[in-house]
Amino acid sequence: MRLHVVSFGCQMSVADGEELASPLKDRGFTAVAEPDAANAIVLNTCTVRQHAEDKALSLIGRLREWKDKDPERVLIVAGCAAERLGPWIQKRFPYVDLVVGAKSIEDYPRIVEEALGARFDALAETRQGFDGQGAGAGPRTGWASPCSAFVTIMRGCNYSCSYCIVPAVRGRELYRPLDTVLAEARAKVALGAKEITLLGQTVNSWHAADGQRQVFFPELLMRMGGIDGLERLRFESPHPHYVTDDMIAAMVGTPAVCGQLHLPIQSGSDRLLKIMRRSYDSAEILDKTARLRRAMPHVEVSTDIIVGFPSETEEDFERTLDLVRRLRPSWSYTFKYSPREGTESAKMADDVPDAAKEERLQRLNALCDELTEEALSARVGRVVEVLDEQGGFGRTGDGFKISWPETGPAGRVVKVRVIGTGRRVLKGESDERT
Ligand code: 5AD
Ligand code: SF4
Repeated sequence: MRLHVVSFGCQMSVADGEELASPLKDRGFTAVAEPDAANAIVLNTCTVRQHAEDKALSLIGRLREWKDKDPERVLIVAGCAAERLGPWIQKRFPYVDLVVGAKSIEDYPRIVEEALGARFDALAETRQGFDGQGAGAGPRTGWASPCSAFVTIMRGCNYSCSYCIVPAVRGRELYRPLDTVLAEARAKVALGAKEITLLGQTVNSWHAADGQRQVFFPELLMRMGGIDGLERLRFESPHPHYVTDDMIAAMVGTPAVCGQLHLPIQSGSDRLLKIMRRSYDSAEILDKTARLRRAMPHVEVSTDIIVGFPSETEEDFERTLDLVRRLRPSWSYTFKYSPREGTESAKMADDVPDAAKEERLQRLNALCDELTEEALSARVGRVVEVLDEQGGFGRTGDGFKISWPETGPAGRVVKVRVIGTGRRVLKGESDERT
């Protein structure tokens, strides 16, 4: 039995895709890269912007033919768009076997069990059994990279950014207990992970009880840093509000923590940040990043930015460009505002014409690309430490992708001399002799 998993959207969605695969793997399925070779497809959808949702819906449409070829095949549609549109998806695409929304992921192994019954259970002896702590609590192989694993530490979001549909489709914040997180991380390291990325919608708001005490995210970083064999620790996506001096101190004091912080700013206009309900202003972003850079001089910052939010003027947009110039992110993810039904901002007029959104996006991208290029070029000539994820391809600690001609086995941290740049990547040669 063969399984094909497709995940649209963020790293959370990719990690969820791995969890969604696991009850099927427990039934004896093995992963395949091609849908045509698969008996089952898990399609993990995203709804954060209309474009992401449309991509998933169009793929469901195209999979009708795949399903028609063999009605025994199983098509599972999961994730954020499934949460938002569940009954509509079931009606519009009746050949979908199972629609499971993002809020049900903890319950998903039971749902699959009930829906599939004895189907595909010929290999039941390989079933490992569900450990009762939520999907993903146990070690699972089949990660995106053999030496880099995700550990989801919280789900949902308690913020209410006016443009964002995530709180509606993922619900309130739920934190996984400290022991569960540490146990999963240790198990993944024992299975070969050298790098762990802690995941959550606002990952650094995580907290949990440890006996009578509350443990907060900075302490979690330090506890994770104590895991033997864990060489690299990353986390996605932090909320600026919880980037505190304690968190910065924990990053500095935990050698495994990579010198990289993703800090979504969304806009540089304080007027818009208020309407977006982001709970910070541009001065706070600059202050926090200045503290971080003082404490961790080699850190690289990346960000998310939305252009064309309702009522955005040319002046608001110039403020965004200003903030980007001062923040100097080495990497940026930029988006045109997309109204999402049910969010607060969807009630405001989407009054920035698409041509203006497009023009601002292009100007912003030109600036962001320039900053990325500068950061890449500054590394030429340096020797960097890279976790070799695929034999000649990996990432530097500060988050740059790099490729080099290499024959050694993947999974080691190796020294690579940067000899040039490509589009958004570094090119290197092995420097292992020195
Ligand atoms: N329109 C455009 N971009 C959005 N994002 C979230 N919601 C929207 C929206 N409605 C972006 C934000 C967020 C990233 C994951 O997606 O920049 O940080
Ligand atoms: Fe959405 Fe804001 Fe929550 Fe991020 S913090 S998931 S942008 S509501």
